[in-house]
Amino acid sequence: MTKKFEWLEFVRSKLLDVSVFIKIIGISVGIIIFFGIITLYIIRIVLYKSMTENLLKTWNETGKNIAGNIVNKIILNDSVGINNETNELIALYKDLRYIIIMDKNFQIIDSSFGLEIPEDLYKVNNSNFGKSSIIELKTDEGTIYDIAIPILLTSPNTKINLGVIRIGVKEKYINEAINKILFKIAFFMFLIIMFSIFISFIVAKILYEPISKLTQGVEQISKGRYKVRLKPWAKDELGKLTEAFNKMAESLEIKEKELAEKEKIRVKLMEKIISSQEEERARLSRELHDTVNQLFSSIKISLQSFQNICQTEKLKNKFKKIKDIINQAIDEIHHISLELRPPILRDFGLFRAVRKYLNDFQKYYKIKTSMKTNFNEDLRLNEKIELSLFRIIQEALTNIYKHSNATEAEVKFFLKKDILNLIIQDNGQGFQKTVHGNDVKHLGVIGMKERINIIGGKINIISKLGQGVKICISIKIK
Ligand SMILES: Nc1ncnc2c1ncn2[C@@H]1O[C@H](COP(=O)(O)OP(=O)(O)OP(=O)(O)O)[C@@H](O)[C@H]1O
Ligand SMILES: [Mg+2]
Repeated sequence: MTKKFEWLEFVRSKLLDVSVFIKIIGISVGIIIFFGIITLYIIRIVLYKSMTENLLKTWNETGKNIAGNIVNKIILNDSVGINNETNELIALYKDLRYIIIMDKNFQIIDSSFGLEIPEDLYKVNNSNFGKSSIIELKTDEGTIYDIAIPILLTSPNTKINLGVIRIGVKEKYINEAINKILFKIAFFMFLIIMFSIFISFIVAKILYEPISKLTQGVEQISKGRYKVRLKPWAKDELGKLTEAFNKMAESLEIKEKELAEKEKIRVKLMEKIISSQEEERARLSRELHDTVNQLFSSIKISLQSFQNICQTEKLKNKFKKIKDIINQAIDEIHHISLELRPPILRDFGLFRAVRKYLNDFQKYYKIKTSMKTNFNEDLRLNEKIELSLFRIIQEALTNIYKHSNATEAEVKFFLKKDILNLIIQDNGQGFQKTVHGNDVKHLGVIGMKERINIIGGKINIISKLGQGVKICISIKIK
């Protein structure tokens, strides 16, 4: 987009961004002012034209009368009488700028300037001798209409031209008169505009009120407050829209209730699944430890006695190898049994169990681990919380081993009043947010969230590619 269009787009968006209320008021006031100005302008032109025509017509007539009045005085050469007439007229009419009376040879008989008149004034408007003519003069004092009227001595048979009388009429007074009229019209228009603004305001309010209510209602819905209902203000389109809104809010409320019910059932089911899984794990762990492990230990003891009675070195070595394999199997069973349900968790609590788990993890997977707490690690929590947090830490550490390529993993517990904060952090490759979406192939993170949800905690997983993963959990423990 070019700079010019960007600017236009900016203005357009700013204008469109204002509220509907302001738009309605703005458009109606704009239209009223626009047409008001145009009307004033047209009135001015029409008034000016007709007033000027009137003025000139009147002065033309007056001029003819004056010419008629002074005919005798010219014949009698009564210069004093002519001068008195001129002075009287100038004193009488304020829009009369000058009077010039000339004989047929354009010699000045008398004028309001005296016998010497301005040169440029003398030269104009004398080409139509014997006929009336009007010209417009632009002067420092504004426009002046110069009206030339022949002084005629008329008898039934003859018409003798004695000279010309020129009258200078100021336009200034027309403008002043027009301005006075326009001012009155403008004032009247101002009252109309004020009244129109008031009416537009009421109209805008009537239209805007339901729109504004609907907007607020939709905002409430977007915040999940489905209980909101609006009162339809009339049976027009906006009223119908309000009714539709109410229906929508109602069905959303029902849907939300159903969803909440389903969620409750889902969480209960989840709890059940998790607890039966935990029971199963505990049973398996016990079986492995108490039965299989015991059996292997008995086999090991029996082998030992066989090894003792062996005659040949070769046979002794064979027994030793079998014993080593059994030792390995015992270690493996021990590890699996610990993963399933470490007895230390039940006997000494979460913090001791995690510390041991981290030590085993470090030995087994060769990833450096550390643990920090700001309280005594003998602290015991509710069994459900202990087990859930332990499983989450297990999953987080398994993920570190499986996905992170980290060299270090750190677990921190901070107790602040009755809130326990847990941070599990690694220095591995991290991941992008989209990776752990609700993908059925990746259930570890989803499981963590479910467990935290069941025990009423909060979980936040922060990660950026190349910057490791930080899992922050907080839970109320009392
Ligand atoms: N510490 C980590 N470092 C790097 N990537 C991780 C880390 N933890 C999780 N991820 C990424 O997030 C994804 C989702 O993890 P999640 O535990 O949900 O699934 P998973 O480990 O792939 O499978 P499982 O269901 O067996 O746990 C992983 O596949 C991995 O890409
Ligand atoms: Mg996982």
